[in-house]
Amino acid sequence: MSNQLPEANGFRIIGKVEDFTSFPASVTIDRDPYFIIQTACQEDAPQEYKLVSAICPHAGGVVRPWENELICPLHYWSFDPATGQSTNVPGEQLDCQPIQISDGQFIISAS
Ligand code: FES
Repeated sequence: MSNQLPEANGFRIIGKVEDFTSFPASVTIDRDPYFIIQTACQEDAPQEYKLVSAICPHAGGVVRPWENELICPLHYWSFDPATGQSTNVPGEQLDCQPIQISDGQFIISAS
């Protein structure tokens, strides 16, 4: 990677990795709620992270972690945090994108 700031290369900084100690971790980007999800489940696998929107695709409720899912409290649609896909409404899903780590920071594509 070049010495330029990630923003100059089409990326956006979410925050320092060390500041997030448990997952899913709530973050706000441009006033919208998201979760940082840790997706690697095996001990020897590299950790992977995703940014998942907390806005329910049904009618805009804000989903919350509940046991191993994200649940919308308005009409109880549920979602797999690792993929964003609904677990009770086929074909529906939360917006989801990969997160990269650069220089100890979580970064996402700015596009
Ligand atoms: S707004 Fe989320 S289930 Fe209806």
